[in-house]
Amino acid sequence: MPPRKIIIDTDPGQDDAVAILLALGSPDELEVLGITAVAGNVPLALTQKNARIVCELADRTDIPVFAGCDAPLAHSLVTAEHVHGKTGLDGPQMDDPTMPLQETHGVDFIIETLRREAADNVTLVPMGPLTNIATAFQKAPDIVEKVREIVLMGGAYFEVGNITPAAEFNIYVDPEAAEIVFKSGVPLVVMPLDVTHKALVTAPRVDAFRKMGTRVGEMVAAWTDFFERFDKAKYGSKGAPLHDPCTVAYLLQPELFSGRTINVEIEVKSPLTRGMTVADWWYVTDRDANALFMGDVDADGFFNLLTERIARL
Ligand code: RIB
Ligand code: CA
Repeated sequence: MPPRKIIIDTDPGQDDAVAILLALGSPDELEVLGITAVAGNVPLALTQKNARIVCELADRTDIPVFAGCDAPLAHSLVTAEHVHGKTGLDGPQMDDPTMPLQETHGVDFIIETLRREAADNVTLVPMGPLTNIATAFQKAPDIVEKVREIVLMGGAYFEVGNITPAAEFNIYVDPEAAEIVFKSGVPLVVMPLDVTHKALVTAPRVDAFRKMGTRVGEMVAAWTDFFERFDKAKYGSKGAPLHDPCTVAYLLQPELFSGRTINVEIEVKSPLTRGMTVADWWYVTDRDANALFMGDVDADGFFNLLTERIARL
């Protein structure tokens, strides 16, 4: 079977970086057509730079990296340096990338790729605010029906919020964009905090990266070591939750995850609950189901996959 064609839309972010590496370590299953950076964890100038750093780390400077939107649709940008550090990839010392940034805007790359490829050929894998995806859908409505699936990290139900009491960061930053994506009709697989908080990089798992004896393993260990501070302090968790790699792991081994196909709507009006993913987990409404919303993961299986693939790089 030929590898599945994907576009990764991202705001690196240590966990985004690990997700990109997981995809690049799985060339038999995934063909990364391109990486589009979006403003999120840190401003766009840094997320596009960080995406290129990750590609160079994986020795994949053939992957085209594009800069997308630098601000949400209707709000000023909220960033997360308190979690990811001022560079967005704090932890290890890193050199500036030398591979070029593509001239084309990330949104135009998404549009052009979907128009070029056959219908149901391309999967979008957003792991930051959904600004690029929503902007592409607004600018070129014809591409919506061509998308095979969107597998995204975002939202929360039982875990509620990590940036406000009600909302998860990716959805909070651009709730209007999330509303466009969740109402688009494209098949959605959602990795909310409910599942990503069960994918924790505990100390033994960090050691497994470090023991690889590779530059990639060393960087992943340093990133996850740094990245865990916020969640340990806030939740008392035993390690960093690897949010974004859950999207790529689902594409590789969907059986690692379980959830429900339910209706999920986005709060865009209330300042108090802006960005909340209102998930009808208990089927109390007659609203149409629009998302496979994940609730559980086989964490050991997830880390076995992640470790095996990262070790290949
Ligand atoms: O809330 C977690 C999400 O926000 C992850 O994608 C992380 O990288 C940040 O973008
Ligand atoms: Ca992210």
